[in-house]
Amino acid sequence: MKKLMVGNWKMNGSLEANAALIGALLQDASAWHCDVAVCAPAVYLAQLQTLLAGGRIALGAQDLSAHESGAFTGEVSAAMLKDLGVRYCIVGHSERRQYHQESDATVALKAQRALAAGITPIVCVGETLAQREAGQTEDVVKRQLAAVVHTNGHCISEIVLAYEPVWAIGTGKTATPEEAQHVHQVLRAQLQAASQHANRVPILYGGSMNAGNAASLLAQPDIDGGLIGGAALQASAFLSMIAAAR
Ligand code: PGA
Repeated sequence: MKKLMVGNWKMNGSLEANAALIGALLQDASAWHCDVAVCAPAVYLAQLQTLLAGGRIALGAQDLSAHESGAFTGEVSAAMLKDLGVRYCIVGHSERRQYHQESDATVALKAQRALAAGITPIVCVGETLAQREAGQTEDVVKRQLAAVVHTNGHCISEIVLAYEPVWAIGTGKTATPEEAQHVHQVLRAQLQAASQHANRVPILYGGSMNAGNAASLLAQPDIDGGLIGGAALQASAFLSMIAAAR
């Protein structure tokens, strides 16, 4: 499968910085062998829709409401994202699970809202350091994915899955390629049990992926791309990771 490299800008950027970063990335786009997307803060999606029009970078959002529409102050719906040409939306990032108390059920519902609007959810799963040390990694990621499978049924083959060990996010600590591959293989088996089309689901790795470690992670058989935070904010670093994805 073609690899997918996704930048997660988190709460970073400005009109000026976004234009400069996208401009630098697009200069190199004719050489890419993989699919590329950037997930931007909601307020910048309209700017990016214009900057990315007709180009090789797909537009992504970082979150969406579990509700369809109505009296939910501050929320952004799947239909609104679709209106702005959004192709992907991260759901269940550990920062939302942790700081905004998003449950497995809420994450599953958000994935469903995205799918219903024609947006591909990038569903994040991953264990904390304490869970890893307690030997619970497989149980945790399987439970998180099971909720999404339960709510979305055969549509599960339309998602993108991202394994992001919480202890590796923004810490400079990465799972070794073998550690990551092991969890990806567990997730792949769970997807296969849920859908006969599961092999088309890209499983991305995320958590301190950078220009130095991307190639060895991407060489693993079940690692189909990356979800990249910090390193996706620098054009040169993100471009060298994109070049490693072939
Ligand atoms: P990081 O973040 O690459 O900065 O570790 C990844 C993510 O949280 O998606």
